[in-house]
Amino acid sequence: MSIFRDDVLAGQVALVTGGGSGICKGITEKLMAHGCRAAIVSRTQSKLDAAAAELEAKTGGACLAVAADVRDAGAVESAVDATLERFGRLDIVVNGAAGNFLTPAAGLSPKGYRTVLDIDAVGTYTVCRAAFDKALRANGGSILNISATLHYTGVPLQTHAGAAKAAVDAMTRHLAVEWGPLGVRVNAIAPGPIDDTEGMTRLMPAGMREAMERSIPLQRFGRADEIGDAAVFLSSPAAAYISGAILVVDGGAWMAGGMKLMQP
Ligand code: HXC
Ligand code: NAP
Repeated sequence: MSIFRDDVLAGQVALVTGGGSGICKGITEKLMAHGCRAAIVSRTQSKLDAAAAELEAKTGGACLAVAADVRDAGAVESAVDATLERFGRLDIVVNGAAGNFLTPAAGLSPKGYRTVLDIDAVGTYTVCRAAFDKALRANGGSILNISATLHYTGVPLQTHAGAAKAAVDAMTRHLAVEWGPLGVRVNAIAPGPIDDTEGMTRLMPAGMREAMERSIPLQRFGRADEIGDAAVFLSSPAAAYISGAILVVDGGAWMAGGMKLMQP
C-alpha cells in the first residue's frame, strides 16, 4: 500500500532516462503505480524491453521502451517524439541516466572525465531541452534531476562524478528560475547509498558495507522505492510550490561523512 493516493498522478506521462535499471526503475514503478504512463530511455533496447514488461506487469500501467544515448541530441529528440506519439503528452521528466566508475583523479584521463560530464551533465541538459521545446514550454510540467551528495564533501575517487553532479545541481536551479514563469518546476533528488543498484554494487569497495552502514545515522542503505516515494512527492500537487529544490534522501549519510569511506 502507498502513503499517496493511487491516482495522485493520474493521466500524466513521464519520461525517465535510466528507467530500465536501479534507482530509476524504482522511480518509474512508483510513478506508474500512481497513475502515470511512462517512457523509459537508455542505450540498451533489450534491457528496456524487459524492464517495461516487468513494470507493466507490476503496475498495470503502460510503459514504452525507447533506446537512446543521452549524448546524442538527435536520438533524445526522437525519444521525446516517440513518447508524444504514443501517449499524446509529456508532463514529468526524470533525468537519471549516468555513468560512473571509481578512479583516483590522477588515474583519470581527460576523455574519462569528459565522458562522465557528457552523460550526466550535458545529457541532462539535452533531455531537458528536448522535453521543454516539444512539450513543457507550452504545457508546463515537472523536471526531476537525479543528483548525488559526492560533491558536498569531496568523496575520494569520484572527482568526475562529483563535478558532473555539481553541474546538475546548478542546472536545476538555473532552469527553475528561467522556466518557472512558464509553469515548469525543476527539482533534484540527491540519493545516498541505495541497495541493490549498479551504483553500490560496482562502486562500493569490497568489505566496506558494514562500516558504511554503521556510519549512516539511520544505520542502513536506502531502497529504490524510497527514492521513488520522494519522486512521487516532488511530481505531485503536494509539491506545487517547490522548485529549485535539491532533496537529499540519504538517511543522513553525507553529514556523517559515510560516503568518504569509499576511500579504499
Ligand atoms: C578510469 C575509466 C574507467 C575506470 C572508463 N574509463 N572506465 N577511467 N577508470 N574504471 C575511461 C576510459 O578509459 C575512457 O577514456 C573513457 O572513460 C570512456 O570510456 P568508454 O568505455 O569508451 O565509455 P563508454 O562506453 O561511453 O562508457 C561510459 C562509462 C561506463 C561511464 C565509462 O561505465 C558506463 O556506461 N556506465 C553506465 C552505468 C553506470 O555507470 N551506472 C552507475 C551510475 S551510479 P580513455 O582516455 O582511456 O580512452 C552513480 C552513483 C553515484 O553514478 C553515487 C555512488 C555512491
Ligand atoms: P544504473 O542502474 O546503472 O543507472 C544508470 C542508468 O543510466 C542505466 O539504466 C543506464 O542504462 C543508463 N545510461 C548510462 N549511460 C547512458 C547514456 N549515455 N545514455 C542513456 N542512458 C544511459 O545505476 P543506479 O545506481 O541506479 O543510478 C541511477 C542514478 O542515481 C544515477 O543518476 C546515479 O548517479 C544516481 N545515484 C545513485 C546512487 C546509488 O547508490 N546507486 C547514489 C547517488 C546517486 P544503459 O546501460 O542501458 O544505457
